[in-house]
Amino acid sequence: MEITIKIFRYDPEKDTRGHYETYVVEGDENDRVLDVLELVKGKTDGSLAFRRSCAHGVCGSDAMRINGRNHLACKTLVRDVGANITVEPVLGLKVQKDLIVDMDPFFDNYKKMLPYLINESPLPADGRERLQSPEDRARFDESTKCILCAACTTSCPSYWANGEYYGPAAIVTAHRFIFDSRDEGASERLHILSETDGTVRCHTAYNCTEACPRDIKITKAIGEVKLAMVTGSLK
Ligand code: SF4
Ligand code: FES
Repeated sequence: MEITIKIFRYDPEKDTRGHYETYVVEGDENDRVLDVLELVKGKTDGSLAFRRSCAHGVCGSDAMRINGRNHLACKTLVRDVGANITVEPVLGLKVQKDLIVDMDPFFDNYKKMLPYLINESPLPADGRERLQSPEDRARFDESTKCILCAACTTSCPSYWANGEYYGPAAIVTAHRFIFDSRDEGASERLHILSETDGTVRCHTAYNCTEACPRDIKITKAIGEVKLAMVTGSLK
């Protein structure tokens, strides 16, 4: 089948602003949008720039806007979006070239959440690891699924309006540790998230939940963090 793909192009060495270019390729309805981009790059224009690594929905590097909504190109089939496809970089982060955006602000916010286990208490006397019940492990199972693709944060109208907002992905990261029974850094993280650019900027738009390729219930997770902030309870 013939697939028409319109791609946002921007080369900072040549262009003062972005523009669109349209390519027609021979493909299959079961091709992924990533395959179509590879076809364009391999056969028509080798200068096309986009990120990809695993091609299996694991690394989180190929989030982009496909027909106006954030998706992973490697998890989006042509048959699901049709043979006329428009591909653009995600919103809210500076475009570096074509579909590649500057992810530094995104990862800066990730780092602000202290994304590691904090526990200064001595290990159990028997020298064993810190144990956790299956129920306690299940408490944050949802937020461990995040692959840091930024599809949520860059679909959030609050983030578009104010790039200082830590964003849903950062809050999901905080959630992963706040509700871990082995961690002792919850109050520090909740304090960070109570700042002006924290959870108060979430207006429950649900765009993040709809955009997440891992089906994480992000709005619910943010709600749980907000509740913990108010009640002090980590249940
Ligand atoms: Fe991507 Fe979902 Fe993680 Fe957001 S929460 S960065 S959409 S995997
Ligand atoms: Fe790794 Fe798509 S290329 S998630």
